[in-house]
Amino acid sequence: MPAPAVPSPPADLLTVRVQDPYPYFAWLRRHAPAHPDRRPGRPTVWQISRYDDVRALLTDGRLSKEPGRVPGYVPGPAGLNRHLVHADPPDHTRLRTLVNAAFVPRRIARLEPFITDTANRLLDRIEQHTHVDVIAAFAAPLTFRMICAILGVPTELDNAATRDTLMATIAPAPGLDPARVEGELHALLDILIAGKRTSGERGEADLLGALVRASDESGAMSEEELRSTAYLLLLVGHDTTMNLIGNGVLALLNNPGQNARLTGPQTGPGLITTAVEELLRYDSPVRDATFRCAAEPISLHGQLIGEGDIVSLLIGSANRDGTHFPHADRLDVSRTPNDHLAFGYGPHFCIGAALARLEGSVAFPLLLQRLGPVTLAKPSDELPWRPARVMRGLAALPVVRN
Ligand code: HEM
Repeated sequence: MPAPAVPSPPADLLTVRVQDPYPYFAWLRRHAPAHPDRRPGRPTVWQISRYDDVRALLTDGRLSKEPGRVPGYVPGPAGLNRHLVHADPPDHTRLRTLVNAAFVPRRIARLEPFITDTANRLLDRIEQHTHVDVIAAFAAPLTFRMICAILGVPTELDNAATRDTLMATIAPAPGLDPARVEGELHALLDILIAGKRTSGERGEADLLGALVRASDESGAMSEEELRSTAYLLLLVGHDTTMNLIGNGVLALLNNPGQNARLTGPQTGPGLITTAVEELLRYDSPVRDATFRCAAEPISLHGQLIGEGDIVSLLIGSANRDGTHFPHADRLDVSRTPNDHLAFGYGPHFCIGAALARLEGSVAFPLLLQRLGPVTLAKPSDELPWRPARVMRGLAALPVVRN
């Protein structure tokens, strides 16, 4: 039987996809739940948009995480793609075990006073201004400081220039030469790793030092895996949580009734916890799951996904699937149950979930309370979203304190 014809998405939904992907996602879920994006000279990318499919495929052994299976496809900067996000077992298990201990909830919980103190210091500065960019003044420095502390990155490298280099690898500014960005990134990793080799310090929070030793002393990871893992953790350790704070504040400003519930006298820790989960679901910081390809043909909704095709699991769409979440397009800070897929599902479930949840539960109440009433400095649909492949996050969130 011939495969059913796949409709083309309406052009107007595609043109606003970075700014507002949700109408496009709703169209996909309704009309083309397994949608092939075919472009000349590129591998086919299947977009999977329904909750049940995304969740099932996140644990499906017929999908591989190894980009080497797709000829000519390089998902990230040259020489930095050998990390756990791009590995199947047994390499995935080995690499995940090496970093996992630093992120277990018990260890992460000890960071709470440091997160609170850092957030308050940033807010001390913010309180002196009426115009504030929530991303540059709060979300970016707070979240980067935390991952730098865990990795043991020296304070002189914990700055906006380092963050810009990392971010340019996934959402390059127009006119920026990718080769130059990669050169700067490799130079940064050279400094970081050489510093760990010469210092000999063994602080408790020194994941990078521990990885360097795992590479040098026991050969548990290769030099390329070490560099790739350092790059991965520096990037996803802050870009994601920064987006949670930025997307979350925007969602609250666009939903004043829900915002009022979080700033009112009745707000307790229980409501903060459900609010963080709802903000993760409502405008998911990781919009698409990371690289996966079919290791064997897969049939889905009458379509045949061919071996070697890329499969993009649209987490942001799954989390707005109205057949799974009642009133999925509505923000409800007390939503329960809320089994969103914002941190993924299965063997690649987010290692940093406990850290991200803790940062969110400290940051939102402090920020809302100390900023006081604010309004957006520009209309919501004119805000600059970064055109990244996997992430969904604002380049800036300018607000005015009233
Ligand atoms: C709100 C913040 C965050 C969100 C929404 C998020 C989301 C995700 C998602 C969806 C995945 C699975 C991707 C897939 O299966 O394709 C993932 C994996 C991962 N996350 Fe996060 N993440 C966040 C914060 C963090 C932080 C703070 C770290 C700290 C280092 C981190 C480290 C990782 C790593 C290393 C993986 C790969 C796990 C593996 O492949 O086994 N994430 N994250």
